[in-house]
Amino acid sequence: MKVLVTGAAGSIGRALGRGLPGLGHELRGLDLVSEPAAGYEHDWVVGDCLDPSTADAAVQGVDAVVHLAGNPDEDSLPAALESHVHTTARLLEAMLAHGVGRIAYASSNHAVGRTPSGSELTTAVRPRPDTFYGTAKVAAEALLSLYVDRFDLGAVAMRIGTFADAPETVRQLSTWLSPDDAVRMVDAAINHPAPGYTVVNGISANTRGWWDLTPGRSIGFDPQDDAEGYATSIQTRPEDDVENAFVGGPHVTSDFVRSAF
Ligand SMILES: NC(=O)c1ccc[n+]([C@@H]2O[C@H](COP(=O)([O-])OP(=O)(O)OC[C@H]3O[C@@H](n4cnc5c(N)ncnc54)[C@H](O)[C@@H]3O)[C@@H](O)[C@H]2O)c1
Repeated sequence: MKVLVTGAAGSIGRALGRGLPGLGHELRGLDLVSEPAAGYEHDWVVGDCLDPSTADAAVQGVDAVVHLAGNPDEDSLPAALESHVHTTARLLEAMLAHGVGRIAYASSNHAVGRTPSGSELTTAVRPRPDTFYGTAKVAAEALLSLYVDRFDLGAVAMRIGTFADAPETVRQLSTWLSPDDAVRMVDAAINHPAPGYTVVNGISANTRGWWDLTPGRSIGFDPQDDAEGYATSIQTRPEDDVENAFVGGPHVTSDFVRSAF
């Protein structure tokens, strides 16, 4: 399958560049940075996916879009909406114009970050963002749902936990998404014949995970890695209890409270 990966120079984009070609996918990368990441050397678009002509050129000839581009940190509300919602809209419009029918979107646990821990986190909980970043992810998910209902598109919103080579905190023993599982998740999201609009929890098969993996398995994402193998190397910290109290971990603390503008 020919796949456009936006934000291809970022941490998740680079992992997909290493893993997706081996599963038979031919990649085109899009990023603000000019140097192609490994796996994208033959097809690299430099630009901002907010820009209509960039988005238009980038989707031409692909079968699916994996939309990762965006600022993964907290920002003002307008900046977060532009980075996550407007870019998604720009790509969806370009996809419609060029008959591209599939998008896998890097949503986040922070879309439901204010959900308290204590019972299994399903993907049916109400949108409950913990930040403007999370609010923008909620809005981007809503936009995907709208376009799936209006047009002949399939969209998978992947609520990613903590993507990293290895977990580094007690919370991450629950929320870790390994690079190999990220590749498995995206492969499933772009290959499933008819996902409609599906939300999946994007974590590995962590022993301490408390997020429902059923929606992912329903589209063929069967995570194989487990953070527990790193547990003995992780130091406990005083902030662990606070970080484990809500889905969003540190994002629910007062450190992230700021003015919208
Ligand atoms: N890393 C995580 O643990 C995690 C967790 C949840 C969700 N996510 C989401 O996954 C996506 C990728 O995360 P990441 O950790 O790889 O981030 P990253 O910051 O490492 O990479 C993002 C990439 O996107 C590019 N980019 C940003 N805005 C762009 C634009 N308008 N047009 C083109 N390129 C643009 C940047 O140059 C960068 O290379 C983000 O949307 C993030 O919100 C990540």
